[in-house]
Amino acid sequence: MTLRGIFYPYFVSSVMGLLLKISDVWKSFGNVVANEGVSMEVRSGEIVSLLGPNGAGKTTLVMQIYGELKPDKGKISLLGKSPTDSLVKRRMGVIPQECSPYSDLSVWDNVYYAGRLKGVKGHVLRTTAETLLQRLGLWEKRNSLADELSGGMRRKLLIGMALINQPDFVVLDEPTVGLDPSSRREVWDLLQELRKEGKGILLTTHYLDEAEKLSDRIYFLNRKVIYAGTPAEIKEKFSDWYEVVDYSTGKSIRVRGTR
Ligand SMILES: Nc1ncnc2c1ncn2[C@@H]1O[C@H](COP(=O)(O)OP(=O)(O)OP(=O)(O)O)[C@@H](O)[C@H]1O
Ligand SMILES: [Mg+2]
Repeated sequence: MTLRGIFYPYFVSSVMGLLLKISDVWKSFGNVVANEGVSMEVRSGEIVSLLGPNGAGKTTLVMQIYGELKPDKGKISLLGKSPTDSLVKRRMGVIPQECSPYSDLSVWDNVYYAGRLKGVKGHVLRTTAETLLQRLGLWEKRNSLADELSGGMRRKLLIGMALINQPDFVVLDEPTVGLDPSSRREVWDLLQELRKEGKGILLTTHYLDEAEKLSDRIYFLNRKVIYAGTPAEIKEKFSDWYEVVDYSTGKSIRVRGTR
């Protein structure tokens, strides 16, 4: 077999699998630099976390990925196109940080109309909505108003709304903040199932344990990428940092270890 024969399949699969490529992205608000020369990638079938403290520039970066903000400098390629391309929007699912379902619509209608907005129609829309609500444990609540759901259920409903178009790439900005441990676990399980289906997932989190348990790769962001690696590499690098999470409030504090 020729060298080309050996490397070509790898080359093709790696290029085909590349969903998101960010190259040297800068973004400022006045004189506040939120993102400084950020480069990163997400491939299909992997969960990638942006881990960083408050104000680290995570939301600013993901807003540029879903086309809500424009980089001052640098390039973002999503599914081989610009994030603002209409085709990209149809193949992407987004849960922004500050976001809630329409409180005066039912669970079913929230998912249904999210699908209509993304161009999903008819039988496919109804079947996908039912499958998602069953899977998220919200089927029994389909006729309840979103307002009547618990915080965890509302978060899961947002996930359903983001997945209604069966996206290839999903962005979740702090998907588990404020959730109790069992709801958190359910969201994690769902994200792992999506990974198995070959979707690419990018999430932001403050929680080191969440990033470690879920991710194939972690970008430790604080304005710029401080460190990128697998969870094992990050753990090794930051092994003397501990994070204490108060699950009742969702607040976390970072403390220096003693070793
Ligand atoms: N619209 C805006 N106008 C001015 N400054 C902004 C704006 N959005 C973000 N910033 C600033 O940019 C920096 C990064 O904010 P960003 O929201 O991206 O951080 P984050 O990592 O998502 O934080 P958190 O974990 O609290 O959500 C902060 O200093 C913030 O004050
Ligand atoms: Mg944020």
